[in-house]
Formats: sequence, structure tokens, C-alpha cells
Amino acid sequence: MSTKETVLSILERNRGQTLSGQQIADMLGISRSAVWKAIRLLQGEGHQIAARRNRGYSLGAESDLLSEEGIRAHLPAGAAVSDIYVYPVVDSTNTQAKRMALEGARHGTLVVAEEQIAGRGRFGKRFYSPGRTGLYMSVILRPSGARAADAQGTTIAVAVAVCEAIEALTDRRPQIKWVNDLYLNGRKICGILSEAVGDFESGGIDSIVVGVGVNCRTEDFPEELSGIAGSLGAPALSRNRLAARVAAGILEVWPRRASLEIIERYRARSLMIGKSITYSQGHQETAATVLAINDQGNLVVRDESCEVRTLSSGEVSIRGDFS
Ligand code: BTN
Repeated sequence: MSTKETVLSILERNRGQTLSGQQIADMLGISRSAVWKAIRLLQGEGHQIAARRNRGYSLGAESDLLSEEGIRAHLPAGAAVSDIYVYPVVDSTNTQAKRMALEGARHGTLVVAEEQIAGRGRFGKRFYSPGRTGLYMSVILRPSGARAADAQGTTIAVAVAVCEAIEALTDRRPQIKWVNDLYLNGRKICGILSEAVGDFESGGIDSIVVGVGVNCRTEDFPEELSGIAGSLGAPALSRNRLAARVAAGILEVWPRRASLEIIERYRARSLMIGKSITYSQGHQETAATVLAINDQGNLVVRDESCEVRTLSSGEVSIRGDFS
């Protein structure tokens, strides 16, 4: 780690507190002027570091630039996150993570971006990803012997991990709309996209990339999302802290993705039970009522002709009241 990175890491660990130049210099075994140089570089990058004469330096609570050091400083002990890559702009963190997976990136690699210019959602939809107001991240998972059927279990486990991270760090209580969206107060605040990276020689899956997009403070959504998308809106929550908690959570729950315990944690946060929905299969749309989420994570519904059906994939929209 460079001096600049180490100084940032120290300030991140002591966020909100003022540390004198001498204190930081002593911690690192460098001169005060080297500390000052590092601070100037960090300020130039956009980190909001207050420098007070005769007192020292502090990273303000409002300073919310994503950085590897910032994320590492908030990783819980024992987290299985391995390498961390933070980009100012990428096409899509999932696309970038897939490229890295093909080049041999390790299990637990985390890819994060301030902005995505080609953020993707399910069914080929665009995921609106403006700069600095959201968290756009992907984690590379390397399964041993997993098959495509794991995709739904993976998405379910990731939804649980994201919900639980938000619950742990804020007073917000989002709910999960089957299978991959998080809603708060009737608005979508987060989407999850799990994608397999194939190993064509063996015909199996080489790795899985799970992407999470959270609208943290996004306010101006494009016309087509107005009334649908919303934001988490926890102003004191740093995105580095959220990224660390979500990534650690994903890596912790994913090995138990098909277990009843994870399904139960998913069900407890489900927005769906009892809701009137429309589901589409092919070009056909059917109205139904949700009865349950079964132990495999499928949606059990009663459709208009009173037939009970089990849905394992497809697009579902809730009709009427979300609450
Ligand atoms: C959906 O709404 O259908 C899923 C949206 C997933 C968005 C995240 S943002 C980080 C990662 N990179 C992408 O391009 N997509 C996912």
C-alpha cells in the first residue's frame, strides 16, 4: 500500500475523529510533511478531509468516495473478501467481474464502481447507475461443482445478505420482491443480477458473478423509473461500509444458499405473500394471488382459474398496494 492509501485507511478507521499529523506520522514511521503530502493528494481526489491548524486531520462523515481502503476498514473480522477493485467509471461491474473471472480472478473478488455507463438488470433491462449516489458492486464466486440450477438459490442468498446488511447498518427495513428486487416504501431501491461464467470445456460453471445495485441517495430518476424506483436514503451511511457488509454477507451466506435456514430468512423479508400479482410466461400474462414461497424458493400462486401453480422463473409484477 502506498503512503496515501495507508493514510486514508487510518483516517477511515478513525472517521469523524481528528488525528494530528504527528500521530499519523508516528503510526507510519514517516515525516509530518509526507503525511501532509498524502493528505493533499487525497483531498485532490475528492476525499473531504478537514485540516485544522494545530489540531490535525479528520475524514468528514459526509466524505463518501468509494475506495479499497475505505471498504477494507469496514470488513468484519474473518470476511472472505479477497481482492478489491474500485473504479470511477465502468461499463458494468458485472461485465468487468466476468472479464476478470475469465482471467482467473479469485473467489471473493469484489468489483465496485462509482458509476456505470451500461449497468444491466434482468431480462436485458438497463440499471440506472448515476455517479456517486449509488452502490454498484459485483462479487466473484467460485463454486465447486455448481450447476446452472444454482442461479435462483444464489440470488435468494444474495437478497438475504443485502437486506440483512441494510438492517444491521440503518433503521431501514426493505422487503424482497421475488426473486431479486428490494423494495422500501413501495419503491425499488435495489436489484440483484446473478450471472454464470461458463467453462465450455467441461460444460459446467467456472464462476458466478453476483451484482448488486443499491440506490443510496439517487433522487432524479429518468422518466420511465419515476414512481417505481426509490432510494435507501440513509444519509449517514457510507457506501464503503455498506459495500463491505454486503460483500462479507454474500460470501458468508452463499455456501448455505440452498438450505432451509436461508429460505426462512428470505421468507421473513418477503413482500409477496398474499399479494395480487401478474406473472408473465412467454408472451402470456396471468393474474394470480401469491400463496407462499416454497422450500426451494419458488413462488406458489393461485391463478384466475383457481389453479395452484409453482413459478420458478419469469417476471412478476405486484398489482395495487405494495404495503
Ligand atoms: C435488476 O434490477 O434486474 C438487477 C439489477 C442489478 C444491477 C447491478 S449494479 C451492479 C451490477 N452491475 C450491473 O451491470 N448490474 C448489477
